[in-house]
Amino acid sequence: MDFKIAVLPGDGIGPEIIDQAKKVIIVVGKKYNHKFNFTHGLVGAIAIDKTGNPLPAETLELCKSSDAVLFGAIGDPKYDNNPSAKVRPEQGLLAMRKELGLYANVRPVTTFPALIDKSPLKREIVQGVDIMMIRELTGGIYFGKPQGRSEDGNTAYDTSVYSRYEIERVVKLACEYAMTRSKKLTVVDKANVLATSRLWRETALLVARGYKELTIDFMFVDNAAMQLIQNPGRFDVIVTENMFGDILSDEASVLTGSLGLLPSASIGLSTSVFEPIHGSYPQAAGKNIANPLGTILSVSMMFDLAFNLKTEAETVRTAVEKSIEAEIVTEDLNRTHPKSTSQVGDWITEYIKKI
Ligand code: IPM
Ligand code: MG
Repeated sequence: MDFKIAVLPGDGIGPEIIDQAKKVIIVVGKKYNHKFNFTHGLVGAIAIDKTGNPLPAETLELCKSSDAVLFGAIGDPKYDNNPSAKVRPEQGLLAMRKELGLYANVRPVTTFPALIDKSPLKREIVQGVDIMMIRELTGGIYFGKPQGRSEDGNTAYDTSVYSRYEIERVVKLACEYAMTRSKKLTVVDKANVLATSRLWRETALLVARGYKELTIDFMFVDNAAMQLIQNPGRFDVIVTENMFGDILSDEASVLTGSLGLLPSASIGLSTSVFEPIHGSYPQAAGKNIANPLGTILSVSMMFDLAFNLKTEAETVRTAVEKSIEAEIVTEDLNRTHPKSTSQVGDWITEYIKKI
């Protein structure tokens, strides 16, 4: 089959990790007889430098006309330390989510047996953790209006807004995931304080009624943050609003031993986007030391969710597991004998070629 992939490397380590992912895609194409066509687009700080816009119209068009988007990372310290910058790289990512209608961000958090001891938590706490974190991605305080400053500049405000419909569609997706797993769904909110959370609760209960075998429970976000560390094994599928999901998914990611390992898929109304959950890690840019596994695992998710290529997805995941077992890993996972970003990519590519 033929597939068109929009490749948006972005900033920092984005280009290096995307190069590894492309190698993997190409070798899978050869092995299983698919044609993957790559078209590159600009996004983030590099897009601001070249066009003044963190998401140029051309990039958006490219995304819309592709079968999937492979995304690296965005962000640049020159914007982080300048709160008065008029355009910011992150606006490109947020605009892309909104324009493509990417209402759900799916982040599987699984542990690799060979890496259990890299986790900051005790082995017995993290062993066997397998969480599907689903974050609402186009609503809430990230996009609510009004947002801004008072005229005198001394007051600032953000607004969290959710409509029933926005909650319904993401909770439905979470229910579908739960039905293919342990049939247990946890909705994380702050219904003791927030009106939006109370609408989440009410709506989630109604949606869940459509799934007779599903058990749904609700947890306040502060408690969820604690339980994720104390007893992560109690969770299976979690669904939550945009801001809580942003925070909890970073927290959950360290359970596995490295932020560099986690993939994600953002799915919705148009083309889906696949990206590692880590950021642009500017300190490592150009050094060939960044962990490419989160991006390569995102390729596995792309094969599965966007192209319905289950065997190919499994092959990539297996190759990643084997590279970890063989200790072909970057410095975040092996301080004493690290491999470079491209060595990890090459090893995985060769492995796929041979099996
Ligand atoms: C993420 C990131 C983004 C977010 C930033 C870069 C805008 O932290 O994808 O989790 O907050 O959503
Ligand atoms: Mg985040």
